[in-house]
Amino acid sequence: MSKQYTRSEVVNSNSKEKILIILHDKVYDVLSFLNEHPGGEEILLDHRGKDGSEDFDDVGHSKDAFDLMSKYQVGELIESERSNNAPKLSWTSGYTKDDKNKDQGISQSVLAIIVVVLIAIVYYVYL
Ligand code: HEM
Repeated sequence: MSKQYTRSEVVNSNSKEKILIILHDKVYDVLSFLNEHPGGEEILLDHRGKDGSEDFDDVGHSKDAFDLMSKYQVGELIESERSNNAPKLSWTSGYTKDDKNKDQGISQSVLAIIVVVLIAIVYYVYL
């Protein structure tokens, strides 16, 4: 079983050897990840001791990020202090799938406009 933390334990962990962040009821030590984080070390330091779930979701982390995270997990919140909010869909499924759907939607509506314009031209020219 992984180590159980209370929220105040995470907030008050001033250890130089740890940078604890809560993300979706799990506790991560990102000290060794600071230099590698593509979003920069500053933002991780800003979230030290905090629950960064919402900001993390807002950024929209990819499936790769999600896979990478498990490497830095050091424990989880005790059951009574969990928020039990599932990560946003974009977080677990990644953006690529959504983007593809979006592109398809745009090209379909562009196609529809072209068809309407063509019909209008044919109508005015030949009728
Ligand atoms: C263990 C925790 C974390 C891991 C493993 C992680 C991993 C990553 C990865 C792999 C990326 C590159 C883009 C992607 O693949 O999604 C990224 C970007 C980013 N991350 Fe994190 N991250 C973590 C925590 C956080 C936290 C707590 C924040 C706070 C809001 C954050 C903010 C950002 C930002 C702002 C970017 C840059 C997005 C961009 O430039 O488009 N990350 N992160």
